Amino acid sequence: MCGICGVVGRRSATPLVFGALRRLEYRGYDSAGIATLVDGRIARRRAAGKLDNLKHVLDESPLNGTTGIGHTRWATHGAPTQNNAHPHHVGGVAVVHNGIIENYESLRDELVAEGRVFTTQTDTEVVAQLADHYLQSGLAPQVAAFETLKRLRGAYALAMIFEGHEGLMIGARHGAPLAVGWGEGETFLGSDSLALAPLVIRITYLDDGDWCVIRPGEVIFHDMTGQVVERPVQSVARLDAAVGKDGYRHFMEKELHEHPSVIGQTLQRVVDPVTREVVLPELPFALADIPRAVITACGSAYYAGYVARYWLEAEARLPVDIDVASELRYRNPPLTEGGLALLISQSGETADTLAALRGLRASGQHVMSVLNVETSTMARESDVVLGMDAGPEISVASTKAFTAQLSVLAALTIAMGRARGVMTPARQQHLMAALLDLPSEAERIFQLGEQIRAMAHIVAKARDVLYLGRGSCFPIALEGALKLKEISYIHAEAYAAGEMKHGPISLIDDTVPIVAVAPSTILFDKTLSNLQEARARGGKILAFTDETGAERLREIAEAVIVLPHVDAFVAPILYTIPVQMLAYEVALLRGTDVDQPRNLAKSVTVE
Ligand code: F6R
Repeated sequence: MCGICGVVGRRSATPLVFGALRRLEYRGYDSAGIATLVDGRIARRRAAGKLDNLKHVLDESPLNGTTGIGHTRWATHGAPTQNNAHPHHVGGVAVVHNGIIENYESLRDELVAEGRVFTTQTDTEVVAQLADHYLQSGLAPQVAAFETLKRLRGAYALAMIFEGHEGLMIGARHGAPLAVGWGEGETFLGSDSLALAPLVIRITYLDDGDWCVIRPGEVIFHDMTGQVVERPVQSVARLDAAVGKDGYRHFMEKELHEHPSVIGQTLQRVVDPVTREVVLPELPFALADIPRAVITACGSAYYAGYVARYWLEAEARLPVDIDVASELRYRNPPLTEGGLALLISQSGETADTLAALRGLRASGQHVMSVLNVETSTMARESDVVLGMDAGPEISVASTKAFTAQLSVLAALTIAMGRARGVMTPARQQHLMAALLDLPSEAERIFQLGEQIRAMAHIVAKARDVLYLGRGSCFPIALEGALKLKEISYIHAEAYAAGEMKHGPISLIDDTVPIVAVAPSTILFDKTLSNLQEARARGGKILAFTDETGAERLREIAEAVIVLPHVDAFVAPILYTIPVQMLAYEVALLRGTDVDQPRNLAKSVTVE
C-alpha cells in the first residue's frame, strides 16, 4: 500500500530508484514519481497511472543526481492524478509517504493561517509544508524533520531529501514498514526487503517510532524521543531471479503453477520426514494448555483461518472464535487469559491484522502468526512465527500463499489434536498421509486447464455469480468469489450452500452461474440437495467435485470438473487451486489487468 524508496550514494539515483519502484509496484499503482537533487536543487518527475507512464516521462526528460527518493501510490486522500502524485515538493524539501496522516486537516488549517498555499488534495502535503516551515525558521534538515515528525498523528513511512544537502536523506517509520539497505558507499531506503534485495545483502529494519539520518554508507538511528539507538543489521538473500515471470504471462499464472511446490516446501518445514510428526518452532507455552483460540486476518488470509476453524474444532476439539481483523480490533471480546491468538498474513504488514495482534497480546493471549514474510512487523511482534515458504508473491491477488497458509494450519491442527489428547495416532497418520500426498495431487490439477477454460467462458458472460460450499469448503467458495471479483470485476457472492434458501435463492435465474465446491464428503448429499434447489430455478450449476460426486452431479450440472479424490481434511487445499484458476481464466477472457487489478494493492498498511 504505497511503496517508498530512496538512495544516497555515488551512482545515478534514478535507475536505482526506478528499479526499486518496479519491485514495489504491487503495493499500489495509481501514480508514481521520483525526486532527486540536481546541482543541489530538487527536481522531480511524476506521472498518473502505472510505472510505465513514469518511464515515458523519464525517457523524455531524464533526471540526474545521486540523491533521490521515489514513490508508487495507492491513493487514500486525493484522486490519483499527476498533481497528487508523490514526491511532494515544497520549498526546500521533497517527501514521499506511505500511510495516512490522520491530523492533516488541523495541521493544514494551521499552515494556511500562516499564509502557506496548498496545491494538492493529499494528506502528505502537510508533511512537506511543515518540514519546509521548520526549515524556513532556520532549523537544520535533521531538526526540521524531527520537529515535523513530532506533530504527525496516524501511520507513516516517510523519506525526505533537502535542497542544498546532497547525500542526505531522512527516513521515518510509525505504523508502516521501512528498512535501510547497506550498500558499498551508498545507502538505500525501502518499504520492504523485496525493494532492496537486488541492491544489498544487509538491511536494518527501523523499529516503530524510529527515524534515521542517512548518508552514503552511514546511518544514525533515533527513537521517537530523539535518542540515538542501535538497530541490528540482518542478512537478506539476493532475490533478483525470484521476481521474474519465468515465461508465464502473468505473475498470477506463475504463482498458480507454484501451488504444488509451495505446499511441498511448506510441509517439509513443518513435518519430520522420518517420523512424520509435526515439527513446530519452540513454543513459549504448551499447546495442551491452550483453552481456546481466536483467529483473525483479512481477505484471503481470513478465509484460510476460516478453514482452520473447522479443522481445529473438529480434529483438535478446540473452541475457536474467528473474525476479520478490522472488526475484531474494535470488538473488545472477553478472552480467556492464556488463549491462543492465531494471526494469518502473507505480508505480515496488514494494518488491521497488526492492530488486532497488538490488542490480543494486550488481552493476555499467546500470539502465534502464520506469515510468509518472516522479517515483517508481525513476525517481530509475535511469540511464535509459523513460516510458510511460499516465496515472494507479486500478483496482487493472493494464490500460493493461501494454500501455504492452509498447509501450515493443517499441520498445526494435527499438532494441537495430539497435544490435547483428542487425536489418536491412527487418525494422525491418516491425516498426515493425506497432507503429504497433496503436492502430487495438486500437480494433477493443471491437466484440467482446458476444462477450466471452458467453464470460464460461461462465467465470463455473467453479471453475477454465486459460489456455494459447505463445511470446510465453504471458505473455499468465499475465496473463489473474492478472487473472481478482484481480478475479473464480475460480481460474485459465496454462501454456505444450506443458507442459500434463506435469501439468495431469489437471485437465481438462468443468467446466474452457480459454482459449487463439492467434494464427496459427508456433506455431499446436503450440498447436492441445495444445488438441486438452485437448478429447479434455472441456475446453471458449474461443479468442482471428484469422481464419486460427478456421477450424481452430471444430471443437474452444466459443467462438472472432476478432481482427484482426496481425504475430506485436505479437500479445501486441493479445491482452492481450480477455483483460483477459474478466476484467472475469466479475467483473461475479460481482458483485465490480472496482476494489478484496479483499486487494489497488496500489503494494506492503512486502516
Ligand atoms: C486477496 C488478497 C487480500 C489479502 C488481504 C490480507 O487475493 O490478496 O484479500 O489476502 O489483504 O493480506 P495479508 O495476507 O498480506 O495480510
